[in-house]
Amino acid sequence: MIKATRAALAGAAAAALAVSLMALPTASAATGGEDGTSTGRAKDGAPRTLGELGRRAGIRIGTAVDMSALAADAPYRAEVAGEFSSVTPENVMKWEAVEATRGSYTWGPADELIDFARDNRQFVRGHTLVWHSQLPAWLTTGTFTPDELREILHRHITDEVTHFKGRIWQWDVVNEAFNEDGTLRDSIWLRNLGPGYIADAFRWAHEADPKAELYINDYNVEGVNAKSTALLALVTELKKQRVPIDGVGVQGHLAVQYPAPHDIADNLRRFDDLGLDTAITEADVRMVLPADATKTEAQAEGYSVLLQGCLLTEHCTDFTVWGFTDKYSWVPGTFSGQGSANILTEDYRPKPAYTALSQDLRLAGRG
Ligand code: XIL
Repeated sequence: MIKATRAALAGAAAAALAVSLMALPTASAATGGEDGTSTGRAKDGAPRTLGELGRRAGIRIGTAVDMSALAADAPYRAEVAGEFSSVTPENVMKWEAVEATRGSYTWGPADELIDFARDNRQFVRGHTLVWHSQLPAWLTTGTFTPDELREILHRHITDEVTHFKGRIWQWDVVNEAFNEDGTLRDSIWLRNLGPGYIADAFRWAHEADPKAELYINDYNVEGVNAKSTALLALVTELKKQRVPIDGVGVQGHLAVQYPAPHDIADNLRRFDDLGLDTAITEADVRMVLPADATKTEAQAEGYSVLLQGCLLTEHCTDFTVWGFTDKYSWVPGTFSGQGSANILTEDYRPKPAYTALSQDLRLAGRG
């Protein structure tokens, strides 16, 4: 359904977006919605949310969700429910969260998000099954033979995918497997199992839920570079070996102090041509604090470049922001001195980036 709409609109989207690049200012519309609400929903029922506009343009618009904020902060909850058409758990499906103690699973918080998504007719991206980070201590400090580790990974993937079977739209099966130079990252998995762990992970996930769409996901693979080219070589090989992989996730963690990846559509097309879906899975655009008008405009441009790259790619299925309000963001805790990376302010007012995304979607969905 989504794909049929996308295919029909691809040409119109390309033409409209070319115009938007040259002609549409983003700053002037940054002061708020027509009706004075934070994100500008219209009272006449016309589509105004990113999720609704995305639907018209043939893509899902998602956000990462912080489960503590969802429980404690009513405006946050209302924005997640009203603005987006898909959700990704920011942390609660990661290995350290679901199996902090060996053999004892904690599914509650992730189940809660899935119920929330069902109530709000949202899709869920599962994040993430195989990663070098946020692993439980029993795993990273334990002593295991390669055979034992292979069994541990097999069981983790099987148990987690089985638990959520039928409720996950897309799984990030393997996350951040590459170094910047395109070599495979040295991790507990590569060290002990060799590069074949990637194909195995996809096969095991597919066995557990044959209908879920399976993605490989990474950062700094927005444009054409050594890392994205190595990723392309890997997925080409996986496809050749008939490994059940459906898509490539491009995280989209940008910073205004670095050039925006204006060649993103050229890059995504390389994966599209292989018959793979693509998605922007974790968009945010950080800046060195304090924020100012110039940086905030550059940020809007960064978000827009990512979304337009997706809209210009026929089988780019979704665009997810890694949080939507500066009130809750992983950036200040990870990148010292940086922040203000999201599309809404701390008090939920739209920034130029929000307006830019909204305008791009309106143009792509026209006709
Ligand atoms: C981040 C979360 O946002 C933080 O809350 C957590 O402390 C660390 O992980 N790439 C990914 C995400 O794939 O899972 C990361 O999320 C951000 C970078």
